[in-house]
Amino acid sequence: MQMREITSNSKSVVFTGHSVGGTVASLSALWFLSCLQSLPSSFSVICVTFGSPMLGNESLSKAILQERWGGNFLHVVAQHDIVPRLLFAPSDSLFPYLCSFFPFWHSSMSNPSFKQLLAQCPDEMQAQFLHIVLNSLEALSAGGLNSGQGNLFWPFGSYIFCTSKGSICLDNAVSVIKMLHLMLAKSSPSSSIEDHLNYENYVGQVYWQILSSKNFQEDDLPDSSYEVGIALALQSSDITPCEAVSGPAKDCLKLAKQMGRTPSLNSANLAIALSKITPLRAQIEWYKVTCDDSDDQMGYYDSFKRRGASKKNSKINMNRHKLARFWDDVISMLEHNQLPHDFHKRSKWVNASQFYKLLVEPLDIAEYYRSGEHLKKGHYMEHGRERRYKIFDKWWRDRKVEGNPGNSRSKFASLTQDSCFWARVEEARDWLNRVRSEGDTRTQSLLWENIEKFDQYARGMVDRKEVSIDVLAKNSSYNLFVEEWKDLKSQLQLFPPHFPSLLDGGGSSSLTIL
Ligand SMILES: *[C@@H]1O[C@H](CO)[C@@H](O)[C@H](O)[C@H]1NC(C)=O
Ligand SMILES: *[C@@H]1O[C@H](CO)[C@@H](O)[C@H](O)[C@H]1NC(C)=O
Ligand SMILES: *[C@@H]1O[C@H](CO)[C@@H](O)[C@H](O)[C@H]1NC(C)=O
Repeated sequence: MQMREITSNSKSVVFTGHSVGGTVASLSALWFLSCLQSLPSSFSVICVTFGSPMLGNESLSKAILQERWGGNFLHVVAQHDIVPRLLFAPSDSLFPYLCSFFPFWHSSMSNPSFKQLLAQCPDEMQAQFLHIVLNSLEALSAGGLNSGQGNLFWPFGSYIFCTSKGSICLDNAVSVIKMLHLMLAKSSPSSSIEDHLNYENYVGQVYWQILSSKNFQEDDLPDSSYEVGIALALQSSDITPCEAVSGPAKDCLKLAKQMGRTPSLNSANLAIALSKITPLRAQIEWYKVTCDDSDDQMGYYDSFKRRGASKKNSKINMNRHKLARFWDDVISMLEHNQLPHDFHKRSKWVNASQFYKLLVEPLDIAEYYRSGEHLKKGHYMEHGRERRYKIFDKWWRDRKVEGNPGNSRSKFASLTQDSCFWARVEEARDWLNRVRSEGDTRTQSLLWENIEKFDQYARGMVDRKEVSIDVLAKNSSYNLFVEEWKDLKSQLQLFPPHFPSLLDGGGSSSLTIL
C-alpha cells in the first residue's frame, strides 16, 4: 500500500541496501518492476546496492536482460570486498564461514553487527576463506565462463568497481566475474573484509576522482581514443601495468567493450538485411492478390498447392525458400547470443516475423500437401511445422499489447490470422473421408466430433472476419470442406434409421454405416 502511494505521488523510487540488505533491495526492486507493468512508463525504478552478495543464477540474469531491466540496477563493489564474491565458492566449503558472518544463518545468535562478528573470526580462518573464494573465482574465470554451468550465481545489471584510484563501470556479466577475480587477487584477508565496511569512503571519493586527471608516460602513450579508454579504465581498476594480471584485465575490459557493441551492430545489420528481402515478400503479397482475383476462384492457398510449372510460380517458391533462410539465420544468431537480449521483444521484429508467418506459412502447408509429405510423415501440424513458426508464435504471444485489442473487424483480414488455418482444413477433410469408411463406431464418433469442432472454429473465424477472402473462394479447400460436410449431413438426414447415433450425437455400439 505504501508503494501504491509512492507511485501516485512521485516520479521515481530508489531501492538501496548494504551487504545482504543489497540483495533485499534487488529483490524488492525486481518485485516492484514486475508489478509496475500497469503503471505509467515514465515512472522510474532504480536500485543501488553496496557490497551485495550475488542474488540469482544465469537464468535470472537473462530474464532481467530480456525485460530490459539491466539498466535499473547498479551494484557498487569495493576493490577487495569479499562479500559480492563469496557465493562463487562452493556452498559446502562456505557454510561454516557464512554461519559466523551472517547471524541469520545461525539462529542461536542474537543480532550482532558485522564488525563484531568479524572480530570473532580468527585470522587464519579469514585467510582460508579468502583463499577458497579466490580459487573458485579463478577456476570460474579460467573455465571460459560459458553458459550452462548449472546453478552458479551470476551477475546482472551494472557493476561499478571502486578503488582508491578511481572507478570502472561494467555491465557484461562475464567481464564482471573476471574483474571480481582480478581485483581480489591483490588483496589481503583483512583488506577483503575491511573493504566491505568501507563504502562510505569509496563513495565519497568517486566525486573527486572523476575530476582528477590521469597521466600517461611518454613511451606508453595509447595511440587511439579506444586505447585511451581502456588504459584509463585499467588505471582506475588499480591493477598496475607491471602485474601479471594487467594483461588479463586489459583483455577483459576490451571484451566488455566489444560484447556491448557486437549485438547492436548485428541487429543494425539485420535491419538492413530485412529491408533487402522486403521485395521478396512484396512479390508474394502481389501473387496472393492475383490468385485471389483469378477466374478459377481457388484462392491463394489452393492456387499454390495446385500450381503448374511457370516462371512466376517457381519465382514465388524460390522467394519462400529465401525468406525461410533469412529467418532461420535470425533465430540462429539469437540463440548464439549474437543479438541484443531483448531482440525478440522489439516490436519491429515481432511484427515482421508475424507478418512473414501469416503470409508464407500457408504456402509451406500447400507445398507439404502438394508433395504428399503428409502420407509419409503424418499431418502438417504435428509432423511438418518448421521450428521457426513455433518460435514466432511465442514471440507474438509474449509481446506487449498496447491499447484496446478488442476492435472488431469491418472487413476481412488481408491475411488469415491463424497461419495454420489451411493445415486444419486439410485435417478436417481427411476426417471427412475417413468418417465415411470407418468401421469402428467409437473412432467414427470421435472423428465426427473433431469435424464438428473444426467447423465451429472455422465459422467463428469467418464471422469475426479473421480470415482473408481466399478462404471463402468458391473453389478453395475450405469451401470444398463446407460442401462435403453439408452433403454428408444431408445424407444422414435422408436415411435416418441407419444413423441413429450420429444424429443424436451419441455413440451406440451397434452402429455400422456408409
Ligand atoms: C536457475 O534457478 C531457477 C530457480 O531455482 C531454476 O529453475 C533454473 O533452472 C536455474 N537455471 C539454471 C541455468 O541453472
Ligand atoms: C473450379 O475449378 C474447376 C476445376 O478445378 C473449374 O472447372 C471451375 O470452373 C472452377 N469454378 C469456378 C467458379 O471457377
Ligand atoms: C507493430 O504492430 C502493431 C500493431 O499491429 C503496431 O501498433 C506497431 O506500431 C507496430 N510496430 C512497428 C515497429 O512496426
